[in-house]
Amino acid sequence: MTKPAGAADALPWRVEDLDFAMLDPALTRADETLFFLLVSASFIETGADVYTGNLLAYYRDDAETSAWLSAHWEQEELQHGRALRTYVRRVWPEFDWETAFARFFEHYRTTCTGEQLEPTPALELAARCVVETGTATYYRMLLSYAREPVLRQMLDHIRSDEVRHFKHFYRYFRRHQQVAGHGRLRIARVLWHRLREAMNEDGYIAFHHAYAQRYPDRPNTAATYAAFRQRITRIARAHYPYAMGAEMLLTPLALPAPVRRHGVKAVGHAFRLAGFR
Ligand SMILES: [Fe+2]
Ligand SMILES: [Fe+2]
Repeated sequence: MTKPAGAADALPWRVEDLDFAMLDPALTRADETLFFLLVSASFIETGADVYTGNLLAYYRDDAETSAWLSAHWEQEELQHGRALRTYVRRVWPEFDWETAFARFFEHYRTTCTGEQLEPTPALELAARCVVETGTATYYRMLLSYAREPVLRQMLDHIRSDEVRHFKHFYRYFRRHQQVAGHGRLRIARVLWHRLREAMNEDGYIAFHHAYAQRYPDRPNTAATYAAFRQRITRIARAHYPYAMGAEMLLTPLALPAPVRRHGVKAVGHAFRLAGFR
């Protein structure tokens, strides 16, 4: 995808601004779970232009949304990938990121096809709100968990970007929804569907290829991934912002205030019980 003129200037922060002189690798290097969480995120963020192509085509008649997607959203997501990759390389220099990413991408691109977009532009924007809820809360969780200063600096920038992405997608969703007028049940189904997808498939593919690269001689099965998920669940119980996630997730449903309060509680509780699964 060609980069629009002035896109780099539009970035709210830059990888080059991170103060790597402050890096204290001893605070992260021994943390295997964090390694796989960061590598997985770097893969998915770097692969963002696959989605952008699909979305741009889908919203070509919507000048405001497509201009924002290409001038801001795509550039910011790709920078997230660059920042995470840079960090991984500094702390775990023995990990061959390029080779692992190439294998991941071969696999991942086959799962990102235009046919997977929701049937109307409004519903796809609601689904994008779920994805941004997932990323905003994921980085918020990692920020709460992380102790290393450069990692914290980077995660703080990324989570602010993700919250802003959510707000943009939500604003565009409302504009389309005013015309489309989809019922709550239909929107809820889309939210649920995208939530399950975001929690399962992408994360599994990313972990699988990261693990294969790091431990080529070890078994890399469903059980390996399940053990990793258990470790994430333990981190999530202590650090995942459940209320924030539930609040954001339900926003596109535009529920009346009392229902919304109960809904946020119920969904937050369900997230906690599910332990991210
Ligand atoms: Fe991102
Ligand atoms: Fe995002």
